[in-house]
Amino acid sequence: MTETTPSTSARPRAGGEHPLVRAVNVMKSFHGNEVLKGIDLDVHRGEVVCLLGPSGSGKTTFLRCINQLESIDGGRIWVDGDLVGYRAEGEHLHHLTDKQVAAQRRDIGMVFQRFNLFPHKTAIENVMEAPIQVKGVDKKTARQHAEELLAQVGLADKSGAYPGALSGGQQQRVAIARALAMDPKLMLFDEPTSALDPELVGEVLRVMRDLASAGMTMIVVTHEMGFAREVADHVVFMDAGVVCEEGTPKDVIGNPQQDRTKSFLKRMRTEDDEARADAAGA
Ligand SMILES: Nc1ncnc2c1ncn2[C@@H]1O[C@H](COP(=O)(O)OP(=O)(O)O)[C@@H](O)[C@H]1O
Ligand SMILES: [Mg+2]
Repeated sequence: MTETTPSTSARPRAGGEHPLVRAVNVMKSFHGNEVLKGIDLDVHRGEVVCLLGPSGSGKTTFLRCINQLESIDGGRIWVDGDLVGYRAEGEHLHHLTDKQVAAQRRDIGMVFQRFNLFPHKTAIENVMEAPIQVKGVDKKTARQHAEELLAQVGLADKSGAYPGALSGGQQQRVAIARALAMDPKLMLFDEPTSALDPELVGEVLRVMRDLASAGMTMIVVTHEMGFAREVADHVVFMDAGVVCEEGTPKDVIGNPQQDRTKSFLKRMRTEDDEARADAAGA
């Protein structure tokens, strides 16, 4: 973090409802390769924001910065009014301790393309793990909550199953339940359906749609245009580390203004058509 980044007074407007996530001019490089070149984003409570963009545009990196799996080189991120990763003292920023970072990360659930379940633990043990280990919740309470969450994702009957005995769609639903077990304020999804066979995508999107309806604040990186159109309140198209275009799904997906957005969406449609043709031919 440099001294030239915007002042800490970009903090939430006094008295007003602040966004749950506010990113201002976020920059990130890897070995001199600028991957995020000044990303601005506000996500309000209860909103679903879909992040679209070609591979390599920095979508995953941006989510990882929000969740402090990466540190940022410039700009600021606030989650629920708290500066992420730093404590501000006047114009000076001090890194939070590992313990303070862990406390901030606890409020954010993340679901990855690869589900990363513990293979030697059952579905319910996977869901119970973090509340017990991280929050010190007692086993009985953790189990009860985990049962409710597995029912919520449609897997009440799979609580004793090991990940290896579950389909990819079921594993991803367990992963969502596991993230929800920490009672997050914010859920980050990084292409949660892109590793799934096409026939399993719908069951995961359904769970995500329910979660959105229940008021969860979500940032979703996805190539599922149907989902983005129906569920997103706001769509952000990223390309080469910048926000290229953003707005309602109707505007960005239905009537894109930028050439880069247009050609990306055209490519997506072609891929969809090819997938449908393959499925019809199979
Ligand atoms: N840990 C890392 N080290 C070096 N380069 C990285 C790292 N993570 C991501 N990158 C690079 O950053 C760019 C953006 O990657 P990523 O955020 O994964 O994009 P997206 O999710 O949009 O496909 C890519 O060029 C990628 O190779
Ligand atoms: Mg990615």
